[in-house]
Amino acid sequence: MPSSSSKPAILGGDPIRTRPFAPRVTMSQAEQTAVREVIESDVLSAFIGASGKFFNGGKRVTDFEAIWCQRYGFKHAISVSSWTTGLVAAVGAIGIEPGDEIICPPYTMSASATCCLFYGGIPVFADIDPDTFCISAKSIATRITPRTKAIMVVHLFGHPAEMDEIMALARKHNLKVIEDAAQAPGVFYKDKPVGAIGDLGGFSLNFHKHIHTGEGGVIVTNNDDLAQRCRLIRNHGENVVTGEDPAELVNCIGSNYRLTEVQAAIGSAQMNKLDACLTTRAALASHLRQRIDKLPGLRAQAHPEHGTHAYYLLPVHFNAQQAGLSRHQFVKAVLAELPKPEGFEGTALTEGYVKPLYLSPIYQKRIAIGSKGFPFNLAPAGWPDYSEGICPVTENLYKNEMLLCPVVREPLTPEDMDDVASAMERVLEHAAEIARTVPDSGTLFTPVAAAMDTNVR
Ligand SMILES: Cc1ncc(COP(=O)(O)O)c(C=O)c1O
Repeated sequence: MPSSSSKPAILGGDPIRTRPFAPRVTMSQAEQTAVREVIESDVLSAFIGASGKFFNGGKRVTDFEAIWCQRYGFKHAISVSSWTTGLVAAVGAIGIEPGDEIICPPYTMSASATCCLFYGGIPVFADIDPDTFCISAKSIATRITPRTKAIMVVHLFGHPAEMDEIMALARKHNLKVIEDAAQAPGVFYKDKPVGAIGDLGGFSLNFHKHIHTGEGGVIVTNNDDLAQRCRLIRNHGENVVTGEDPAELVNCIGSNYRLTEVQAAIGSAQMNKLDACLTTRAALASHLRQRIDKLPGLRAQAHPEHGTHAYYLLPVHFNAQQAGLSRHQFVKAVLAELPKPEGFEGTALTEGYVKPLYLSPIYQKRIAIGSKGFPFNLAPAGWPDYSEGICPVTENLYKNEMLLCPVVREPLTPEDMDDVASAMERVLEHAAEIARTVPDSGTLFTPVAAAMDTNVR
């Protein structure tokens, strides 16, 4: 293997590694057996959108939900067709009215904020903490108005947000808290599992998550009323509510957000793999962090002080001045040292995450539901501010400082992490030459671009 001092691949040398990283394999005999049993039963979904025994689904769905409750002590777990639909149900359940404001982080998957729009809620963006990358209580405090109804917390990349500070603020201002823990299954903040530290929250079960059902999600809460509202929204609640208490009708137009028996059976089998997956990822992240933190200009995200981390990805801070080359040149040169990803595998390193959400057209043009500006037209003139500059920490991470390592995943090994670290090391050793000769232009190597396979080198 070429040493870290030999010529970098981007300058014509031999790459550190051409052997592909082992692909993630998520389905095993256990899932196959579980699916076969459902198919043999011939009942692929047992939900019925009317009062009665099957309003809350069949045996596999209720068994799957019970596992979440038993394992983490949640009072209620409500499976859904995706975490996006789970978020929409959660926003409906807390009683969002048109014009209500929900304070959201801008550095997250779009659904963390768009879920509010379905009920006429207006996302107001608050900045994130530069170390946890989660919404910061300090920034939330500057965004609260008399119209604020809730806070959306995202445990980004699997790092828990500072829930004590956020809950104290929420209690002081009588705000509801939804936890988007899509990327943080099995994560603890202090001694509490994330998801139901606030009023309600939940997890994504899409194909890219730690455990998955193809598509799917789970809402969790310790509040009986919110749980019932979520169940109604999940399954045509209008057919079930009596309307004796008019409050019962609020946001109770239901939809079909149901998980099938097939998915639930897969989900139960997947639950047996979650702890091992989290342990592997934590070990790989720790190994890679130790190497990365010795390199100039790089600093991996620290393990949480209070709690655990799911390492959906390992974020790394990049300082171009200390590194001696631009972030784009660095990523380009590191990727040239490593095997090109195949199929659904992401690149070994990306720059930035998503574009800060408020910069997308839906907020810039304030057009979401219909063509006349609803629900943004319910806000006072000039509010909310969606202009560039409102969340400087997020914008700096996006444009300059953030790198993401998606390689901290099973079935990779510490030796694989060593190859990634050696690639970084070699590039930094030749930083001056790369900075002089490699063009600093081109598309960002973001996870979204990688998924769309625009990561061609
Ligand atoms: C933070 C976050 N929120 C919400 C979602 C939406 O989840 P789903 O794809 O299950 O609808 C995702 C999925 O990537 C996510 O990462």
